[in-house]
Amino acid sequence: MNDSEKRALEYAARQGVSYRCSGGADTPHARATASELRELFDVGVPEEGREASSVIEDLVRAAESGLVGNIRPDFFAWVMGGSHPAGVAADWLTSSWGQNAAIYQCSPAAATAEEVAAKWLLDLLRLPDECSVGFTTGATMASFIALAAARSDVLAESGWNLEVEGLHGAPAIKVFIGEEAHSSVWSALRLLGFGRSNYVMIGCDDQGRMLIDELTGRLEEHQEPKVIVCQAGHINSGAFDNFVEIAKLAATHSAWLHVDGAFGLWANAVPNLMHLCAGVELADSWAVDGHKWLQVPYDSGFAIVKDANAHRRTMDITASYLNESEGDGRNPTHFVPELSRRARGFAVWAVIQALGRQGIREIVSRHCACAARLAEILSVEPGIEILNEVCLNQIALTVGSDVPAEDREAITKELLSEIEKKHGPFLRSAKWKDQTIVRISIISPDTTMEHIEELAQKIQSAHRTLRASYSEEIACR
Ligand SMILES: Cc1ncc(COP(=O)(O)O)c(C=O)c1O
Repeated sequence: MNDSEKRALEYAARQGVSYRCSGGADTPHARATASELRELFDVGVPEEGREASSVIEDLVRAAESGLVGNIRPDFFAWVMGGSHPAGVAADWLTSSWGQNAAIYQCSPAAATAEEVAAKWLLDLLRLPDECSVGFTTGATMASFIALAAARSDVLAESGWNLEVEGLHGAPAIKVFIGEEAHSSVWSALRLLGFGRSNYVMIGCDDQGRMLIDELTGRLEEHQEPKVIVCQAGHINSGAFDNFVEIAKLAATHSAWLHVDGAFGLWANAVPNLMHLCAGVELADSWAVDGHKWLQVPYDSGFAIVKDANAHRRTMDITASYLNESEGDGRNPTHFVPELSRRARGFAVWAVIQALGRQGIREIVSRHCACAARLAEILSVEPGIEILNEVCLNQIALTVGSDVPAEDREAITKELLSEIEKKHGPFLRSAKWKDQTIVRISIISPDTTMEHIEELAQKIQSAHRTLRASYSEEIACR
């Protein structure tokens, strides 16, 4: 390594430390526009290579104004984690060590960190010991893997060997899925060859939970191999499906039961929240993120499958040059659709050690208490309506509960622009049940009640200004 390369590493470390010490980006949202950023980054491909240290200095300059402050305690825009410093440090080392976590022999340390972290995850999430765990880029890929195992398994149950006979001509599979499933699950299903005509869409209640009676009836109508997809933690309401009832139905119909628990499954690690997940351990597979509530740096997710054989058979890669010997530990590639891959286990190992069981519980339950407090303050504000039963860390609200329904949409959007005028675009909207909502996610590791009081005040003050004008306008019509 030359001096400039050494200076690049030292500079990056100093920048990283100072970024974290100052609490992250200056604002919860990026400051630069897309065209400003393009101008900063697009400096052209150099004919000759440059000094590494000056490249890294330029990278910092180009990126600074486009960084989103999602590690800040006043970040509420999406369900995104804040990368625990122990995970960041482990991630730095992961890159420095440059390990390829493909098979055990490529990096025994990386493979063993995954093996051990997998065991800890099952323990923390209270899932059966026999499950296998694939370390993925996130919950989308985790659902993809789990549903690939599901596809193979339900076909095998109906006498079709997917690994030998392929998908063409295979028996049709029906996927029973709530109409409010997360978009990532639809995308995983699409990648696996499932289209709209393979779904049996199940209606949901006002919180986005699958209607059990409807699921019961629809399962009875179909004789094909079945997969049921449910969720722990609805993206807007935070709601949980009724796993006890759904698992009974899955057992009756020999259906594979998959749970998308990207963030919500962490409730099962917390004694005062685990009732939300009652029965979740009865499922066949789970998708959960490390880079959300566990605060592992991006990219980190876990594909957890009860039938390790189905998991492995679906993801397996073998070749004579990928030598495996007696006594080797885990081959990480057996559980993901990747061969050469980042050693994701180090950061997970480090964050679990740094937080400990109690630390994880504390973060998750603090965020849920914060969400409950925010709902308590805002629900008594005339004109604001909290649409969800706040059971987790999500709040969905609309404004104009006391004005004609047709005006609410516009008023809710105006509230967001009023807040944006004063504080920047730090809150986000979504569409839920055909209406625009303000969607608040509390998941940043350092968010406390103090930040919640400040947030409530910002919303209240913007809303009061707006309400004065909209009430007058509506009265004049
Ligand atoms: C409920 C749910 N499922 C799945 C995902 C997808 O997770 P990832 O972005 O890690 O792929 C998300 C992401 O926000 C989510 O909230």
